[in-house]
Amino acid sequence: MHCIKKITNDLIWVGANDRRLAMFEGVYSVPGGVSYNSYLLLDEKTVLFDTVDKAVHHRFMENLTEALGARKLDYLVIQHMEPDHSSAIQDIITRYPDLQIVCNAKALTMMKQFNDFDKEPKSLIVSENDTLDTGRHKLLFIMAPMVHWPEVMVTYDTVDKILFSADAFGCFGALNGALFADEVDFEKDYMDDARRYYTNIVGKYGKQVETLLEKASDIAIDIICPLHGFVWRRNIGSFISKYMQWSSYEPEEPGVMIAYASVYGNTENAAEILSSKLRDKGIKTQMFDVSVTPASEVVAAAFRWSHLVFASTTYNAGIFVTMEALISDLTAHNIQNRTVAIIENGSWAATSGKLISEHLSKCKNINILENTVSIKSGLKAAQLAEIDAMADALAATFPESAGIKKDVPATAEIADSIDPGTMFKLSYGLFVLTAKDGAKDNGCIVNTVIQLTSTPLRISVAVNKANYTHDMISKTGEFNVSILAESAEFSIFQRFGFQSGKDADKFEGCGYDVRSANGIRYVPESTNGMISAKVAESYDYGTHTLFVADVTQAIVLSRELSVTYQYYFDHIKPKPQPPKEDKKGFVCKICGFVLEEEVLPGDYICPLCKHGAQDFEPL
Ligand code: FEO
Repeated sequence: MHCIKKITNDLIWVGANDRRLAMFEGVYSVPGGVSYNSYLLLDEKTVLFDTVDKAVHHRFMENLTEALGARKLDYLVIQHMEPDHSSAIQDIITRYPDLQIVCNAKALTMMKQFNDFDKEPKSLIVSENDTLDTGRHKLLFIMAPMVHWPEVMVTYDTVDKILFSADAFGCFGALNGALFADEVDFEKDYMDDARRYYTNIVGKYGKQVETLLEKASDIAIDIICPLHGFVWRRNIGSFISKYMQWSSYEPEEPGVMIAYASVYGNTENAAEILSSKLRDKGIKTQMFDVSVTPASEVVAAAFRWSHLVFASTTYNAGIFVTMEALISDLTAHNIQNRTVAIIENGSWAATSGKLISEHLSKCKNINILENTVSIKSGLKAAQLAEIDAMADALAATFPESAGIKKDVPATAEIADSIDPGTMFKLSYGLFVLTAKDGAKDNGCIVNTVIQLTSTPLRISVAVNKANYTHDMISKTGEFNVSILAESAEFSIFQRFGFQSGKDADKFEGCGYDVRSANGIRYVPESTNGMISAKVAESYDYGTHTLFVADVTQAIVLSRELSVTYQYYFDHIKPKPQPPKEDKKGFVCKICGFVLEEEVLPGDYICPLCKHGAQDFEPL
């Protein structure tokens, strides 16, 4: 029986899931299964985007037949010729003999390599920026060589702003009834598999992924339809940010991945002691026994953490087999920009450390610490100092922002010392503060709402005087607070935070118009609560006014978690990209505004988000 899912009014997912596959591509374990995505566009012409693996051929054919109904298939777009997406080509041609295959020249060559066609398939060969009109839709073809194979291309539906992204933005794991990434807890349940998919499938081709991302940055994308995993229609920017990070080979998080190969537990013991000492310093660690954990998981973790420790026994005068396989896998996947420390073990002639070091030094920008530890059979008490020294050396290479525990008394004793970074340690929520003055609605982003008292129920909010919303509240004495939830996209912050209500209607095109009892608009989407308040007192604090207000209405809007300032920086705000040319200037850490000047004035205020010079850093 068919099992299809609607994406838009005329786009249908007709793929299928496989939970019986033990090893994807013969090497990657997929305990959660895998999905093979295929999409059918029902325009004046019908268009199928890729097919599926032979394992799910039957379900796919049922799905396609159901979705097409009485219609015939006009086009089959082949974006990628790897057989997990192309195994049904021959059957489809047999069933719909009039269809045209739309692909690039390389894909056609491969198609003939993988298939024995009785006659030449009818094909429409496309190249970079060619387009195809299908009725209401216009498809644009963008070449993406080596985003996994050389023939890969992606397709952009210029009308509905949908990117059919081939292997890019894919993920391991069956869909389990959901189709959209926002239907599941992607961060918690799927991000590890998305990272594992990226690093192992396209991790080697960071440059090519960057090229594709650069092309994609020129187009507006509302939906991403990859060949594996979930369809993205919300928070797309956060996932694109991950891809930017992974393709740059920059670590995602400060922390130490410790991979060890231990025959009798002695090398493991040394690795464990090192991990414990690092934890004492407040450094996150993740440990893997490489003889137990599949290499694909360790490779993915190596892309995540900033520091890598390899601890290996010596075996047959070389590196222990499973560690050797991991090191070769990591170098094959182009690992770079990491700090590395090495522990070796050898009862009579330890060589594993030197050999690991030789392999890794071929990779780009790998800083191998001089503090190595060489164990003869088992770690001795006298060597604990060497483990301490290694932990110290690793800790010394973490930036201050990594939050490593520090000895504090030196500055704590200086009465007038002020470290501005301390202010970032305060935790905040993020809110849309809205007001109404006559017919004018407006709002801004604030992080300063707190409950002041319970009886009477009062809140306070400090608002920058440069904000138009400030003037409206001063005049009318009323406001609403919409409490932002974790599903909030960067566009909400752009809408309310990065433009002035004096020049723009911040609600224009937002798609909702809801008001609380006081008549003021609030934000009903990606929020979990709304509070209306009436100003009781206000206090002038120079740049800001502190409004103290009585709560007049409060409603819970959803069960989602509230956004914190930290969550915004980690998951919502796009990661800064390296400047395209050799630009000089300063970038606002809060909103990304770039000031192209040689000198940053001390009293400079960001024209977008109104933060001061202290929140800028050099480009
Ligand atoms: Fe799922 Fe490169 O194919």
